[in-house]
Amino acid sequence: PKAGLEDVVAGTSEICFIDGHEGRLLYHGYDIHDLVAHSTFEETVFLLFHNRLPSRQELADFDAALRAERALPPQGLSLLATLPASAHPMALLRTMVSALGLYDPDGEDNSPEASRRKALRLTAQMATLVAAIGRHRDGKAPIAPDRGLAHAADFLYMLQGRAPDPADARVFDAALIMHADHELNASTFAARVTAGTLSDLYSAVTSAVGALKGPLHGGANEAVMRMLREIDDPERAEAYVKQALAQKRKIMGFGHRVYRTEDPRATHLRRYSLEVGERHGDTRWYRMSRRIEEVVLAEKGLFPNVDFFSASTYYMLGIPLDLFTPVFAVSRISGWCAHILEQYGNNRLIRPRAQYVGPTRETYIPLDER
Ligand code: COA
Repeated sequence: PKAGLEDVVAGTSEICFIDGHEGRLLYHGYDIHDLVAHSTFEETVFLLFHNRLPSRQELADFDAALRAERALPPQGLSLLATLPASAHPMALLRTMVSALGLYDPDGEDNSPEASRRKALRLTAQMATLVAAIGRHRDGKAPIAPDRGLAHAADFLYMLQGRAPDPADARVFDAALIMHADHELNASTFAARVTAGTLSDLYSAVTSAVGALKGPLHGGANEAVMRMLREIDDPERAEAYVKQALAQKRKIMGFGHRVYRTEDPRATHLRRYSLEVGERHGDTRWYRMSRRIEEVVLAEKGLFPNVDFFSASTYYMLGIPLDLFTPVFAVSRISGWCAHILEQYGNNRLIRPRAQYVGPTRETYIPLDER
C-alpha cells in the first residue's frame, strides 16, 4: 500500500464528495460555491446531519434548537477555569470536549435519538467553548451566548465581547460553511474509527480533536499566520519562500493529499482575505499572501489549500492566532458528528491490516545471554 493510505477508499459515505482533479467539493450533492453564495452555517449543518436541505420551518426549528443548546454546563465552565491558561488551546479543547461528555444528560446513551441530540448539542456548544477558551487564555471571564445572534455572529461576540460588524459575521459564516466537512480527512477518519467501536459520540469527537491538532492537518492555518508575521513585509515574501524551498522546508497552507488543482475553498477565502483586509484598513497580509502564492506556484506548482487564505482572513477578523485551529473545530464539529451518525447508522468495526515487513523467525535469547 502507498504510505499514508493515499488514494485508499476506506468506506462509503453520502455526506461529502471531492473531485481533486476538477477542484469540486460537494456536500451531499450541493456545490460548495452555491452553499457559500446562498446558505448559512445552520442550514449547512442541517444538510450534513439529514442529507437534505431543510424547509423554512425545519430550518427555523433547527436554528432555535442550536441557539437553545449553546450555553455550556456550569460544571464545564468551572473546570475550564482550573486548567492552565498557558496550555495550547487545542489541548484545552481536547480535554474540555472529553469533559463535556461527563455532564451531558445523554452521556452514555448511545441510542440513535440520544446520539442525534448529542451531535446537535456539541455542535452548538463548540462555538461557546472555543470562545471561552480564547478568553480564559487572556484571563478573561467567559461571555454567555446571545440567543438573538446567529451562530457565526455569536461566536465572534462571545470571543470579543461586542457584536461583530454584520459584514464580518457574514465572512465568518461562509468560513464555517467551507470548513464544515471534507470527506475522510484525518480527524474525521479518526472520529469514524472510534465511533466504529460503538464508543460514544464524545469519545469519537475527542479522537478527532486530537488528530486536528497536528500541523499537517488543522494546525496549518496557525502555522501560515506565524509565517506571515515572520515575513512581515510583502517585499520580503519572494526571498523567504525561495530560501525555505531551497532548504526543503514545506510552505504551510500549500499542497493537498486530494486536490491537484486549486482547492475551491481557497478561491473564496482569497476574496474574503482582501475584502476583510480592505474593510479593516490593512491589506498587507493579503498582499503578502498573494506574493507567496505566486512564488510557490511558479517554483513548485503547488496551489493554496483552505488554510492559506483563512489565516489572513481570521487575523483581520480579530481572531487571535493560536485560536485558528480551534476555530476550525467550531465548524468541523458538524462534519465529525455527521460522519459519526452515519457510522453508527451502518456500523462495522474499522480494523484494517498492516503489511508486515519485520522478521518472522527470530530465535529468543534469554535476557542474561544477550
Ligand atoms: N511546501 C513545499 N513542498 C510541498 C508542500 C508544501 N506545503 N506540500 C507538498 N510538497 C511537496 C513535497 O515536498 C513533495 O515533494 P517531493 O516529491 O519533491 O518530495 C511533494 O510535494 C508531495 O508531498 P507529500 O508531503 O508527499 O504530500 P502528502 O499528500 O503526503 O501531504 C500535505 C499533503 C497537505 C500534508 C502536504 O502538502 C503538507 O504538508 N502541506 C503543508 C501543511 C498544510 O498546509 N496542511 C493543511 C492541509 S489542508
